[in-house]
Amino acid sequence: MSDARGIAGGWRSPSTWRSNITLLLTSGCLLAACLSCPSETIRPSSPPQGGSGLVIFLTGSELGSLRPCGCSGGQLGGLEKRPAVFGRVPASRRLTIDTGALVANDGEQDLIKFRIMFEALRLLYYDAVCLTDRDQAIAERLGLLTALQQAFSILRDGNDGSGVFTKRFPDLGVTVNVASFDPRIASLEQATQLVDRAHDASSIDILILRHCDNGLLRDTIAKVGGIDCIICPSDADEPHLLSEPSVKPLVVTVGRLGRHLCRLQVVIAAPQGEPTLRFEAVPVAADLPDDPVLVQLYRQYQQLVSEANLLENYPRIPLPEGLAYTGSEDCKRCHEYEYDAWSMKAHGDALTSLKKVGSDRDPECVVCHVVGMEYEGGYLTEEKTPHLKDVGCEVCHGPGSEHAQTYGLKATRQPQMSCLDCHTPEKSTGYAGHEDHYMQKIVHWREPAAAGNVKQ
Ligand code: HEC
Ligand code: HEC
Ligand code: HEC
Ligand code: HEC
Repeated sequence: MSDARGIAGGWRSPSTWRSNITLLLTSGCLLAACLSCPSETIRPSSPPQGGSGLVIFLTGSELGSLRPCGCSGGQLGGLEKRPAVFGRVPASRRLTIDTGALVANDGEQDLIKFRIMFEALRLLYYDAVCLTDRDQAIAERLGLLTALQQAFSILRDGNDGSGVFTKRFPDLGVTVNVASFDPRIASLEQATQLVDRAHDASSIDILILRHCDNGLLRDTIAKVGGIDCIICPSDADEPHLLSEPSVKPLVVTVGRLGRHLCRLQVVIAAPQGEPTLRFEAVPVAADLPDDPVLVQLYRQYQQLVSEANLLENYPRIPLPEGLAYTGSEDCKRCHEYEYDAWSMKAHGDALTSLKKVGSDRDPECVVCHVVGMEYEGGYLTEEKTPHLKDVGCEVCHGPGSEHAQTYGLKATRQPQMSCLDCHTPEKSTGYAGHEDHYMQKIVHWREPAAAGNVKQ
């Protein structure tokens, strides 16, 4: 379907995306700031590396990961860092394809993420985007399908006649064909037809398989002749090469959550020679520079999340019979020593960390930075429940109403959270193996504390 786009297919004039962006995003003032950024900013000028050949970048399974949370240093990923990787290759020498699964679910926040993901891929000048069934259903629901089709070539699983994306690089004498295919809904013969139709001696043929197992892979390789690269889905964050490096076809995965990019270097050994592919997993490292336009886009995301009031609509379950949160200030009445010690440490200021990065109205962040957001009577917003902000006493000791009313006669009790509920390997990379050290850092009680009040 996209033959006609040729090399210029991936490029849109700034005015095109300017007019479309307004359809997608509603927050006017932020928008204006974004639009004033010159489009040049997303075509970094760092010197090209990797020779004069062609590079194919493959991403996918972002599952709504726009940016790592920043809870611990050194986390990989972030859409705003992709230009730094793409920019190492001149625009005329690269091809950028997303294999789909842009969001993980179809809740309200996922829909916002979908809009943002779409906008990001467009600002990144992706050539083709492959939509999963869910992606497509969401695009339809949001009325975005046409805008998507205008922005990139859209690939869908199966064979509805629009299955192959083609881009030619005449000066290199190379054509790249990409087809997407779900072997659960279409037969291998259809994939063969797709590839055969596009294939020629100098073409690089890539098949995205939506479902993959060893048997299927063997059949595909046997039946779909001439294929250069097969892309399989994966549960691992990092892209992997599943085949031998120099054997055709190359079988690869593209990874997940945008933490790495899959890079295929097209090596053309001699003029008229048959091109070969070299695989590399490129980490989207924390020290790569941020692209200002995509940083701005993330701010719009935060704004949309805030406007959607997701915090107040968060699903909540009731606390056990009669219990309620009273807030850390209330504990202070009788536990001044503990309160003072707690308030000087990180837990006592955890919402401020979110405010600094603009995520204090994002439920995906707030849930671990306040008291009891998952419970009725727990944190709602800073205005409505100021006493429950930060990782307050009742996060770990449980709702305190009964305990406080009985002057401490009745012990605090469940629901209480343990350290690991929040200090997960992803959010708190330094926690595992250093539990005692972390515990020492939060000491707010007079030693010796009676063991067993709080789960560790
Ligand atoms: C599963 C619970 C959890 C979620 C969800 C979570 N955080 Fe955190 N966050 C933590 C923990 C735990 C720490 C402390 C990590 C450490 O020091 O080991 C932290 C620390 C932070 C810090 C302070 C980092 C520093 O350098 O002091 C920031 C900023 C932060 N988180 C932002 C976010 C944002 C933004 C989100 C949402 C995108 C988020 N967090 C979601 C648990 C969470
Ligand atoms: C009105 C006074 C009062 C208030 C308010 C109060 N406590 Fe206590 N608390 C006590 C007393 C008294 C004890 C000691 C009881 C004992 O000797 O076992 C105690 C003991 C504790 C203990 C250790 C024993 C146990 O019950 O687990 C913890 C933990 C504790 N309080 C947490 C809290 C928290 C959290 C809050 C706020 C939600 C709070 N307290 C509010 C009076 C109070
Ligand atoms: C509700 C989620 C939650 C629970 C439960 C929790 N933490 Fe935290 N913790 C955080 C967050 C969020 C931060 C980051 C606060 C900030 O800097 O904004 C943090 C920060 C810390 C820090 C500071 C890290 C640093 O580098 O300075 C220590 C230490 C810590 N937690 C230890 C613990 C221990 C020990 C437990 C269990 C007894 C625990 N935490 C339970 C969310 C939690
Ligand atoms: C991140 C979790 C966490 C937070 C937040 C927290 N505590 Fe604790 N607290 C603990 C742990 C762990 C102990 C150690 C004793 C234990 O294992 O029971 C403890 C001990 C105590 C004790 C002594 C218990 C005893 O038996 O002597 C008191 C009292 C207490 N905390 C009150 C508070 C108050 C008041 C706040 C808020 C100002 C608070 N805690 C915030 C985890 C927490």
